[in-house]
Parts: sequence; structure tokens; C-alpha cells
Amino acid sequence: MDAKTVSRYHEVYAQWLRDPEGFWAEAAREIDWIEPAKKVFDPAMGVYGRWFAGGVVNTCYNALDRHVRRGRGKQAALIYDSPVTHTVASFSYEEMLFEVSTLAAILQDFGVGKGDRVIIYMPLVPEAVFAMLACARIGAVHSVVFGGFAANELAKRIDDAKPKLVLTASCGIEPGRIVKYKPLLDEAIAMAAFKPSACMILQRPQEQALLIAGRDHDWRDVRDAAIAANKHAECVPVLATDPLYILYTSGTTGIPKGVVRDNGGHLVALKWSMKNLYGVDPGEVWWCGSDIGWVVGHSYIVYAPLFHGATSIMYEGKPVGTPDAGAYWRVISQHKAVALFTAPTAFRAIKKEDPDGKLLAQYDLSHFRTLFLAGERADPPTIAWAEEKLHKPVVDHWWQTETGWCIAGNPVGLGMLPVKHGSATVPMPGWDVRVVDESCNEVASNAIGSIVVKLPLPPGAFPTLWQQDERFKESYLAEFPGYYKTADAGFKDDDGYVHVMGRTDDIINVAGHRLSTGGMEEVLAAHPDVAECAVIGVADALKGEVPCGFVVLKAGVPRAHAEIETEIVALVRDRIGPVAAFKLAITVSRLPKTRSGKILRGTMKKIADGEDWTMPATIDDPAILDEIGTALKGKGMGR
Ligand code: COA
Ligand code: AMP
Repeated sequence: MDAKTVSRYHEVYAQWLRDPEGFWAEAAREIDWIEPAKKVFDPAMGVYGRWFAGGVVNTCYNALDRHVRRGRGKQAALIYDSPVTHTVASFSYEEMLFEVSTLAAILQDFGVGKGDRVIIYMPLVPEAVFAMLACARIGAVHSVVFGGFAANELAKRIDDAKPKLVLTASCGIEPGRIVKYKPLLDEAIAMAAFKPSACMILQRPQEQALLIAGRDHDWRDVRDAAIAANKHAECVPVLATDPLYILYTSGTTGIPKGVVRDNGGHLVALKWSMKNLYGVDPGEVWWCGSDIGWVVGHSYIVYAPLFHGATSIMYEGKPVGTPDAGAYWRVISQHKAVALFTAPTAFRAIKKEDPDGKLLAQYDLSHFRTLFLAGERADPPTIAWAEEKLHKPVVDHWWQTETGWCIAGNPVGLGMLPVKHGSATVPMPGWDVRVVDESCNEVASNAIGSIVVKLPLPPGAFPTLWQQDERFKESYLAEFPGYYKTADAGFKDDDGYVHVMGRTDDIINVAGHRLSTGGMEEVLAAHPDVAECAVIGVADALKGEVPCGFVVLKAGVPRAHAEIETEIVALVRDRIGPVAAFKLAITVSRLPKTRSGKILRGTMKKIADGEDWTMPATIDDPAILDEIGTALKGKGMGR
């Protein structure tokens, strides 16, 4: 059967285009509102308008309470599968509600109320999900910080979010290494100008953290006391336009951007996506193999599957090494997951270890229907490998932290469109995607340009940056008036398929993790011996891209280059965190620049990747590019 003839996509997209408000009003009927919105979309509110203005709702109610009330109480809501601790545990909707309402009462006892911020700096343990939902329950705003970030990054987020409370665990567990979170938290609080008044620490058996009297509280002790006192918090009504969370993401500088998500639009869009985009039904088991520190984890480990009444798997492990490259197949098979959403890098890792897919043969994947990939460009060989081994559709879809859900994808629930390797397929309803030139004129099909989205953004997308409307306008809305700048470049082909080719700014994607080379340059520049520096992303067979730093030393520095390079690598790990995967620093005597002084990072990247490159007409001194090539060759790179 021709997939194109059975897909309802074109009809549904056209329906949205004709009447966006009618479309989202219809989708909003799937949500339990305390009071319906006064206006489906109010163009006068916020920076570019707000969705479900005047609506009153509670996100946690929609994730838990309503399912319990409607007979789903005994169904598993969350399956915690942790090969690093040899644990598999399941929490029903009823049990989740118990844990979350207890924790919500504890938060209230700490003085956390509607609008207050709570930072969650935790590994992938069920308590982290309870914490997010407990905040949502009482109208507090959570900000989850990924565990692979260093103290300095945590401090920046503490200073921006000003949390009343920080929730953490004694440690995270990486293969072969315990990551002690508590010393990082202590260091971050010491660095930050803002001091949270209390911290709750989940002590894990692998590491006992030292608690600071008066500030730190043992999570289990306060939980036991709250249970003994039968404390439970009810859902606090919030406006649809009130913030649910802040998620910091890399910007072009070392100062992260606080992406704000509101309650109403997020509920509506995510609920819609589970069936229409992912093709999952309530009661089915769904697995998103990300981390709650990233937007994908927020939306698809925690919120969307629970809004939908599905069962969500949370996996504390890696695709390889915990224990082997069959781990993903084991999880799918053991829990009967119907779909998996992960980053292409995970599949590259599996393919590298088990190219023939021998481990796959050991597991029954008969109930598995679809693999979804996002977070970075899905390279066609990886998609082809996954299709060949799984004999199931592999769907690439395009996302950003800012958007909260998919911009372009292949809507499985509406009937799949034909897959084209290298394309994220088509815009979802809500997203009017255009490809434009520098003057904001649309370019022809197949021509590469800047990908922009016509305003307003749909429900679920960010309305602004935390307390920074001006930065929001300047970063996203100023360059192409009337449009949201995605900062991705790409093209639409003759069938309207969107092909995302790469960023137009200095963001790089390392193993599906979004990082700022500008932020890394700030760290390199802080080294006392460094006069100048440039960080670029270079191609990597496993991680897609990895950062590579070039440094020019101050005149007269007598020290060995190798010694300084080692210090620089350690400095990035210390200031940004291991997640930056910054392992390569190269000393050069000069950086290539244009006559106006702009560093030619694009050309440096081409040289490092061994691609063909042309001498930029504006280059100041062409000989410097040869020097860069030689320096790279010295490290076994380029050609
Ligand atoms: N806490 C502390 N440290 C962490 C961490 C966490 N939550 N997550 C990663 N790190 C560390 C790693 O241990 C590693 O440290 P190392 O330099 O000492 O080895 C470093 O950060 C880099 O991590 P990563 O880039 O993830 O590399 P990796 O070699 O550990 O794993 C993959 C590579 C491909 C297996 C892994 O990145 C992966 O599973 N990615 C796909 C899923 C995903 O997370 N997608 C995100 C968005 S959808
Ligand atoms: P993040 O905010 O971490 O989700 O990263 C967003 C960026 O990742 C996007 O701007 C893209 O550059 C890249 N990205 C995410 N998904 C895809 C995809 N399916 N294809 C190409 N690039 C992607």
C-alpha cells in the first residue's frame, strides 16, 4: 500500500492552516481544565501572543490524578530500569500520585509556593520525576539541570532562577565511575550570589553525601515524616499561561538561555503529539531514552506519556557497556515497549559495537512498532542500518529545546508519509516552516537558507526566556521580522519535506547534547597563558561532532604546549562539565581571520573535517590556513 494515499497528514495540516485556533481548541478538549480559556489565542498578551489565555489548569492533575480517577490507578505509569544499579522497579499511577502528593506537601513545608523556583539536579531516578510533578502540582516552577554539567554551570542557573529549594541526589552513576553530585552542589552554592535556603538530598547506596546542618535535609527522612503525618498536597490551580518550568540551554555565549514552558499550551500540544505523531495509545508502553536534563526527557520521559495515560520507561544506563550493545533490545523486549525515541548517536554506538546486530536476535521485539530519532541530524547510514536490523519504520524528527516538541516529523498516528533518509519529513500542525535568505525572502525549493517559522509559535513552544523578553526578541525574532529564527539552516524539497543541515550559529551537537562553542571559548580565554582562541565542532563518527579548541599563547610563555593543552582540557571539564566532551586543544601561532578581524571558523572546520575548502576572498593572511592544516595533521586530523 502506498503510504502517501493513506496518510491523513495533508488534510490535518490544511485544517490547521485554515483555522489554527479551531484546531487547537479541538485538541484542548483532551485536557481537563479547571476553567476553560477565555481566548484560545490572545495576540495582545506576551511577546508574540499567548495560548489558552485565561484558562485555569493543573499539569500534575492531567498527568496523574485524572488517570487514577478514571480507572488507570493500577496501571504502571513509570518503569525505572537501571542497569547501573541492577534495578527494575515499576510505579503505578496510584503509587506515583501518592509519592508526588507527599513530596508536594514537603515542598510546601519548605515554603515553596506558586511561582517559586525549584532546581532539580538529579540522575535518572524516579524521585527526579516525582520532583518535577510535585512542583507542577503546587504551581512551583522547576528547573532541571543535567547531571553532566559542572558546578559553575549549576551556579549560573541558581543565580538566574533563584530557587527556594534545590533537590539533588548523593550521586549519579556513569559506567565505571560514581559522579558525586553533592560536592558539585556545595561548590555551586558557594559560587552563586543567590543562596537557596534549603536542599533535599537523596542518599543513594553508592555514595553517602555529607549534609550541611540547617541547610541540607535527608530526602528519605522528610518523606518518612510526611508519610507518618499523612501529608498530601492538592493540585493548585494555575493559569494556562503561568510557567511550568525553566530549562536552560546553550546560547551563543556562556550565559545559558532560560527557556520558559507554560502549562496550558504544553499540555495540549504534548497530548496531541502522543497519538498523532508517535502513534501511541493510552495503556501502551513507551520509551524515551534521553535524560530528564534535556527537553526531550522533559517532554517524553515525563510529561507527554503521562498526559496520555501511557507507561513511560526511564532508563538509567547507556546504549552500550551497560552491559552490552544489546541493552536497548533487552529493555524494549522486557517491558514490551511499542516505540523508542532516542538520539542517532545511541544507534551509532550500538552499530559500532554490534555491526551485524547479532545481539538483536536474542530478544523478542514483535510488539515494537517504531523508532524515533532526534536531537541531531540523523545520518542516512545510521537510519538505514536501524531499518535493516529492526525491520520497522525509523522516523527522524526535528526539535529544539525552545520548541518543546517536534517542528517537523513523520506523523505515524495520522498515517506515515514515505520516509526520505536525511529529511525530518514535514512540518507538524502549528508550524508554518519557511526557508528564507538574508533579506527574509523565501528561497526556491531545494535551495538552502535559514529555516524560520511564521509567528505565532504553536502551543507548547516557548513564550519567552525567563525574565528576559528583550533577549528573547533579540535572539529569535529580530533578524527575520514576523518569524521565529530557528538558527538551523536547510531546505524544503519539491514534496515540502524539511531537510535540516546544521546550525547557523556557534551551537554544536555533541552526542545529541547541545553545547555552545562560544561558551567554551570563554573558558579557554580565561586560561592565564592564552591570548586568543577559537573552538569549532569537528566531525566525529560516534558523537556526530566534538569540540576542538585552538589557542594562541601570550607572547613569551615559556611552558610546553602539551602541558598547557592538558590544563585547558581539564579547565573545560571543570567549568562546563564532562558532557562538553572537550578533549582536543591545539596550540597554533596565529588564527586565520578576515581583514575585519573575524575568525574563519567555518574554513577551519572544513580543514579539520578533511573537506574541500576554498580560500576566503576576505582572508587577512592565507598562509595561516596552511599552519592550521599542519597543526591538525599533528593531531591526526584533516588531510
Ligand atoms: N552525569 C554525569 N556525567 C555524565 C552524564 C551525567 N548524567 N552524562 C554523561 N556524562 C559524562 C560521561 O560519563 C562522559 O564522561 P567521560 O568524559 O569521563 O567519559 C562525558 O559526560 C561525555 O558523555 P557523552 O557525550 O554522553 O559520551 P559517552 O561516551 O558517555 O556516551 C553515548 C556516548 C552515545 C553512549 C551517549 O551519549 C548516549 O547514550 N547518547 C544518546 C542518548 C541521549 O542522551 N540523547 C540526548 C538528547 S535526545
Ligand atoms: P536541542 O535544543 O538540544 O534539542 O538541540 C536543537 C538542535 O539540534 C536543533 O537546532 C538542530 O540543530 C539539532 N537537531 C535536533 N533534531 C534534529 C534533526 N532531527 N535533524 C537535524 N538536526 C536536529
